[in-house]
Formats: sequence, C-alpha cells, structure tokens
Amino acid sequence: MATNRTFTMIKPDAVQDNHIGGILGMIEAAGFRIVELQKVQLTPERAGQFYEVHKERPFYQDLVKYMSSGPIVAAILEKDNAVADFRTLIGATNPANAEEGTIRKKYAKSIEANAVHGSDSDENAQIEGEFYFG
Ligand code: CMP
Repeated sequence: MATNRTFTMIKPDAVQDNHIGGILGMIEAAGFRIVELQKVQLTPERAGQFYEVHKERPFYQDLVKYMSSGPIVAAILEKDNAVADFRTLIGATNPANAEEGTIRKKYAKSIEANAVHGSDSDENAQIEGEFYFG
C-alpha cells in the first residue's frame, strides 16, 4: 500500500477563528502537496460515523457534537512518509503536550478542540480520505 498520502481535517474551532490559511500554510511549508480539499459541515450522524472507532470512549458524544458544530476543512495530503511526518507536524493530541513549532501548539485550544485531525495509519488515511472524496 502507498505510504505517501494522509488525510486531515481542520476542525470547527480553527475554521471559526480564521486559521484555515495559517494551517494550510504550515502544511505546505512542511512539504505536503494538497491533493484534495473541501470545506463542509458534518451532520451529527456523519461526524459519529467518522469517529465510530471511538464510540465507546467517554468523550464520543461531545466529540460528535463539536465536530458537527460548524464547517470543517477536509484534505488529502501527499508527501513521502506522509502519515508519520504529518503526525509530527501536528503534535500531540493534547496541546498541553504538543511540541513547539507544531500546528496544535500554535492553534489548538484543548484536547477536544485541537485544531486538526491527522490519520494514524496508511489504512485509516485511505478510509478517511474516501469518507470525503471517495
Ligand atoms: P483526533 O486526533 O481527531 O481523534 C479523536 C479526537 O477526539 C481527538 O482528536 C480529540 O479532538 C477528541 N478527544 C476529546 N477528548 C479526548 C481524549 N481524552 N483523548 C483523545 N481524544 C480526545
């Protein structure tokens, strides 16, 4: 399977706060090519489906509500070693633990409103990309 694509979403708080350009700028500056791009608002049903792997987690209901609270930007990104390099670029899920220079260090507000999503494997990158662009 190709290891050169990943999938990302810019989450509702970052879109609301006018950080689409800033975040896409950091992504391009890090050497990723934007292959697909779409601004869209998820229904609670679609948000729930996207995050179905987390449905037993205590934060699931809040996450679904948050992710459907306003528009998001979904994108497929291309670069060598895309999944791992993108996770390095975005930083830790909890922005309190995110390294200096990462997208979440700069833009995330909380563990939930953490500015961006990044796929955690090649397999999930494929599935998540198809969820929007299939
Ligand atoms: P993301 O990388 O998109 O994957 C799952 C999302 O759930 C995560 O980012 C956060 O937005 C949200 N979330 C909320 N609370 C937690 C938590 N305690 N641990 C992990 N993810 C959480």
